[in-house]
Amino acid sequence: MSKKVAVIRREHFNAAHRLYNQQWTDEKNAATFGKCSLPHYHGHNYELEIKVVGEVDPVTGFVMDLKLLSDLVSEKVLERFDHKNLNIDTEEFKTLNPTAENIAIVIHDLLRPHIDASLGLYIRLFETPRNFVEYPA
Ligand code: NI
Repeated sequence: MSKKVAVIRREHFNAAHRLYNQQWTDEKNAATFGKCSLPHYHGHNYELEIKVVGEVDPVTGFVMDLKLLSDLVSEKVLERFDHKNLNIDTEEFKTLNPTAENIAIVIHDLLRPHIDASLGLYIRLFETPRNFVEYPA
């Protein structure tokens, strides 16, 4: 019988962003995104949870070595986004609106190729303590 277990690594990064649609007027952006659309950017303390789901390896007793997952997240995600202005400093959000939803999808897609295909990968991203997103849903 299969016994799947979820292992979760929690990480943290700070980043600035501005939410806006380049095709829209300032008024429509302000109406849609509120303070998140202010032109001079603002920061968030992002809390990130990376969940890996799979069968326990009978040899190691691990689903995935969390040290390896931690190293992978540092290399692929934190070095790229921590203390950055997402709109200006990163290739990923030059044209893509850096909402929590889009950041979660980008983080998933950065990590997915480096995690065994037999394992499930789920991202939870907190933009504030009360607002967070999950991908895949
Ligand atoms: Ni914001």
